[in-house]
Amino acid sequence: MPADPVPSPAEPTVHVAPGFPVVGVVGAGQLARMMAPPAVELGVGLRVLAESAQASAAQVIPDAPVGDHRDEAAVRAFAAGADVLTFDHEHVPQPILQALEADGVAVRPPAAALAHAQDKLVMRRRLTDLGVPCPCWRQVATLDELEAFATEVGDVVLKTPTGGYDGKGVLVLPADGPRDEAQRWLAARPDGLLAEEKVPFTRELAVLVARSPSGQAAAWPVVESIQVDGICHEVIAPAPGLDDGTAALATEIGLKLAGELGVVGVLAVELFQTRSPDGTTGVLVNELAMRPHNSGHWTIDGSLTSQFEQHLRAVLDLPLGDPRPRARWAVMVNVLGGDYPDLYRSYLHVMARDPGVKVHLYGKEVRPGRKVGHVTVTGRDLDDVRARARHAAAFITGEIDE
Ligand SMILES: Nc1ncnc2c1ncn2[C@@H]1O[C@H](COP(=O)(O)OP(=O)(O)OP(=O)(O)O)[C@@H](O)[C@H]1O
Ligand SMILES: [Mg+2]
Repeated sequence: MPADPVPSPAEPTVHVAPGFPVVGVVGAGQLARMMAPPAVELGVGLRVLAESAQASAAQVIPDAPVGDHRDEAAVRAFAAGADVLTFDHEHVPQPILQALEADGVAVRPPAAALAHAQDKLVMRRRLTDLGVPCPCWRQVATLDELEAFATEVGDVVLKTPTGGYDGKGVLVLPADGPRDEAQRWLAARPDGLLAEEKVPFTRELAVLVARSPSGQAAAWPVVESIQVDGICHEVIAPAPGLDDGTAALATEIGLKLAGELGVVGVLAVELFQTRSPDGTTGVLVNELAMRPHNSGHWTIDGSLTSQFEQHLRAVLDLPLGDPRPRARWAVMVNVLGGDYPDLYRSYLHVMARDPGVKVHLYGKEVRPGRKVGHVTVTGRDLDDVRARARHAAAFITGEIDE
């Protein structure tokens, strides 16, 4: 049987009304997929450079040529069919991004900004220079350097500077624990790893902002993000009980970073909330993402402007939308793959039990721990909203079946 015809990256099959732009997204994961509804609403074109014809976004965006984001010719040909280039992930190598910029391609966010989301050492250095609060950190290349750092800070979190996601690339090292795994990591990355103090945070927060090339910026309310084993499980918007001072500080950090780093599009800043012995709270920056982010999925159902719409507006240098919430509370719970592959079967129960639940599945095959969807519930009573969102997610994954 002949293979399905694969569209050529150089010949866009996306059709838009005259004068309307086309946004090209490198990567066809769920983030690119969730840009499709606002692109439809705004009447702008959307094409994705897909890892495979079955990828999440390729299922719903017709103009989805298959190509490798590490192949300069493929990315270049893809970009030729779009007015601006943006991203579903941060894995396009810097030399490719810089070559495209040199050719006049509108790369958004620009390569120089994106570097801070690609490499955690680059990010730590820059944030430290900017005086933005960070955990204590050091670049370490040997076990001796690691031990010297551990002597200063106690428990250490060791991170690969590039390529980490969902907690992969993060190794927690108790002060007096074994070091064999760390040794393997160091051997694999002779250029060095990022070592950080293990922050005794009270909880994790995130602030999302968007910035356009003209410099307009907008921020959503600061959220709480609950991680289990390094994977985001739940997001509560806004972060319950967050004092105004800390919320303002976090928002200020997000807006300052977007401006200083020259971000275009959505910037997510993951934060640790800390409490000092005298009871004052503060925040430390964990890491940055320059694209829509899991901590902003709630905005689809919970904000006047979703992060996906805002990202499109920002990369097209359109005026930004209103980021205010639509409801007092929004709770987003991730649907993580479990042992139960048939997710659609759960719709009957979930939808019948609670018509207020918004279900978002990404067309991805179930694998244990893989993010395959999320649910969002909004409302006035946090306990109720949270319980309903948790129930729906647990039911879809087959964790509960009552
Ligand atoms: N210095 C630290 N101190 C304490 N916990 C940490 C530290 N760094 C990371 N963690 C924990 O590990 C999680 C994952 O770390 P990080 O966000 O750096 O990795 P990642 O794999 O790049 O994540 P993501 O899934 O957001 O891409 C954090 O959300 C936090 O729970
Ligand atoms: Mg993270």
